[in-house]
Amino acid sequence: MEILKNYINGEWKESVTGRTRSIICPSDGTELAKTTESNEVDAKEAIAAAKAAFYGVGTWRRMAAVERASYLLKVASLMEECADELAKTDTLDNGKPLREAEGDVSDAIECFRYYAGLIDKPSGGVYDVNQGFGEMHSFTMHEPVGVCAQITPWNYPLLMAVWKLAPALAAGNCVVFKPSENAPLSTIKLFEIFEKAGIPAGTANLVLGNGPEVGAILAESEDVDMITFTGSTKTGQSIAHAAAGNLKKVGLELGGKSPLVVFADCDLEAAVEWAMIGIFFNAGQVCAATSRLIIEESIKDAFVKRLAERANALTIGPGMENPDMGAIITEGQMEKILAYIESGKREGATLVCGGERYTEGNCANGYFVRPTIFDNCTKDMTIVKEEIFGPVLSVLTFRTEEEAVALANDTEYGLAGGVITNDGARALRVMKELRAGITWINCSQPTFCQAPWGGYKKSGVGRELGVHGLEEYQETKQVNINLNPAAQVGWYEER
Ligand code: NAI
Ligand code: MG
Repeated sequence: MEILKNYINGEWKESVTGRTRSIICPSDGTELAKTTESNEVDAKEAIAAAKAAFYGVGTWRRMAAVERASYLLKVASLMEECADELAKTDTLDNGKPLREAEGDVSDAIECFRYYAGLIDKPSGGVYDVNQGFGEMHSFTMHEPVGVCAQITPWNYPLLMAVWKLAPALAAGNCVVFKPSENAPLSTIKLFEIFEKAGIPAGTANLVLGNGPEVGAILAESEDVDMITFTGSTKTGQSIAHAAAGNLKKVGLELGGKSPLVVFADCDLEAAVEWAMIGIFFNAGQVCAATSRLIIEESIKDAFVKRLAERANALTIGPGMENPDMGAIITEGQMEKILAYIESGKREGATLVCGGERYTEGNCANGYFVRPTIFDNCTKDMTIVKEEIFGPVLSVLTFRTEEEAVALANDTEYGLAGGVITNDGARALRVMKELRAGITWINCSQPTFCQAPWGGYKKSGVGRELGVHGLEEYQETKQVNINLNPAAQVGWYEER
């Protein structure tokens, strides 16, 4: 079997370790591929390549924005040509249903086109400043930050890579990228596309490996100017600590325990549909999953009954068969979810459906968990407080709007939140009270590359996507031009 390699300074190469990693299909436990397994030496080589490309050669950052954009557009077109292959790759590597992977690929292509279009638009400002130092013209311009390290998780392998790479490259940065060791295959294909598109050597470097051996080096390196990360809050905190050494710029997209607040006046069928999407899409392995259903007491029983009927009817299976719900990424993650389910039972929540591994038909060797709903949850239960990252919904009830808001905000996280009601004023009132970066009214989950994405509280630092997402990858430089240099002569004598 071919060993998939790192891409450093425009060359595909194996790690100095000589070690490899098996890449596993979570739908059946089989080996899909082997990758090289890197360490600190490879990480440092990739950082040095990005540093030389940015500060030395400088080809990419000195290019006119429209020219950089033309490379990104080329990347988007090449992705379109192999869209089927990219989607199948993520489906096999991550376990998600093919139609979800196809959605990710088209979103990823759109994201490259969006940043290609954005980068040559007006940016910076002109400031009418005071005349204390004579007549001045003051303006700002945006410049790339420099060497950006980027680390992604496994839940949206291709899309998370593109959310980071498209704006960073558009802005003129040079990048060292580490995908999750659990699902790196679509990112490797993306780098093959970068090579085909002719992106200059050293501009985008790929290092395959695990968190402690590669990720941590990227976070602490003094030669890295910025680190962006998506993943768990715990790892995000360790990255923030490591980044303090040279005070590199940090962008963190972390966990969540997002609420979906449902009022009794809702359209029940529609609300059930959004509640399902909110927790069963990508088998609940979504940072913004609305994993806490906070519902008005009077409709709770009817709602949960309908929700359980729908959940029990979902098809589960290998992603390539396009089921309603696919596999969990690894055996370990599946065990973690099952342990949370046990804690829910132990702590007194009522298991309404699911609650176990699914092994029927051809799922025996895969890592599947049935869609699970817990009723009668209380706010101090582990399943209500912690991010499970699986298809497990906790149901809590409220009687008043104030109570609903208090429950919704009773979390250390603040990534997202939804409100479902037919009362427009109430929808806006509740949305404004949510301490979360992404909010939905009468839906849950829709995400767009044009709009900023990120969390309050322990859900992260900074924003991805949209104009904000580009500015994160830029420094702002102030420029002051003296329009009348001679006028200041004699400034010391005037005192
Ligand atoms: P993780 O946050 O540890 O891993 C994500 C990425 O960080 C991977 O590329 C990994 O190699 C890298 N990494 C790990 N340790 C690192 C370190 N010390 N320095 C730098 N990079 C490091 O998440 P993991 O272990 O895959 O999953 C654990 C839990 O995290 C999940 O059960 C879930 O609750 C949560 N999670 C949340 C995500 C989100 O988007 N909110 C995404 C993935 C996981
Ligand atoms: Mg895999």
